Amino acid sequence: PNPSFATAVRIFGEDAIAEAARLIGEGQCVATPTETVYGLAADATNGEAVARIYEAKGRPSFNPLIVHVPTVDAARTIATFDTASEKLATAFWPGPLTLVLPRRADGPIAGLATAGLGTIALRVPAHPAMQALLRASGKPLAAPSANASGRISPTRAEHVLASLGGRIPLIIDAGPTGHGLESTIVAATEETIRLLRPGPIPAEEIESVAGRPLAPSDTGKIEAPGQLESHYAPDRPLRLNAAEARDGEWLIGFGDVAGDATLSATGNLVEAAATLFERLHEAEVSGRPRIAVAPIPETGLGTAIADRLRRAAA
Ligand code: TXA
Ligand code: MG
Repeated sequence: PNPSFATAVRIFGEDAIAEAARLIGEGQCVATPTETVYGLAADATNGEAVARIYEAKGRPSFNPLIVHVPTVDAARTIATFDTASEKLATAFWPGPLTLVLPRRADGPIAGLATAGLGTIALRVPAHPAMQALLRASGKPLAAPSANASGRISPTRAEHVLASLGGRIPLIIDAGPTGHGLESTIVAATEETIRLLRPGPIPAEEIESVAGRPLAPSDTGKIEAPGQLESHYAPDRPLRLNAAEARDGEWLIGFGDVAGDATLSATGNLVEAAATLFERLHEAEVSGRPRIAVAPIPETGLGTAIADRLRRAAA
């Protein structure tokens, strides 16, 4: 069942930010403007808070999310920068640029925010509301666009209310966003830089600041974000809908199926989404040659969990 809220819309200011920061601290998600589009923000270090983003959006799969931080220094605690990404961060942050970078293994970000990937999409936003929320909450904030899955990105609080009203507790209203278009996404994970999503910062400006050309994509056109990096999949066979473990299997349980470890002993789908990637990584290092996963009900967040598991099993 989806959560039901009496969604409050508050004009951006000290009171609205204090209330939003309190909700973030409780693991809830809050819609806030950025200079590109309105984002649906939650504590990126709290897996269950990140799961609530997917729940509110009704996303049928776990795409990795953009994590927002207040400063370049904060970004350095989460990802590693090379020469080109340092130049891009210095030139364009705060601003409408997202950098996909190698994730630091010792970083604080929940596995669900990056969908288990070894890379992370990071952005230092310029908008005063998002900046104020980052500082007041003291947390890196995962935030996709604040629209229900399959709907267009919101550039006004009214759009967010129409799309997510009743599904989130609070929308901060600071009027229409400046760019009205999602951030430019650039991957700088190897010795190359690649454009993953065109946006407010043109490709030519990226190339001139980085001092190197954007590498051509494999397909010859701009690649769909999230599809470029192969999604995380475990390194051994995975069996679905397992009521019990067979020989050599590490069983990931859910609800009544206990397993070697469980996604959620109480059958809670928010908890299951939050623990999914940790449980899969754990199974890989268990020493068992195969993985099995208990049945997950395909309702609400269960749909996205099952989608991810089917891809992992394929
Ligand atoms: O302007 C924006 O970027 C807005 C505001 C709220 O900041 N956010 C936004 O987020 O557009 P979202 O989740 O709607 O889009 C993020 C895109 C997704 O297409 C996702 O696949 C890609 O970024 N992405 C995230 N992490 C990635 C990674 N590690 N590798 C490749 N793509 C990634
Ligand atoms: Mg979006």
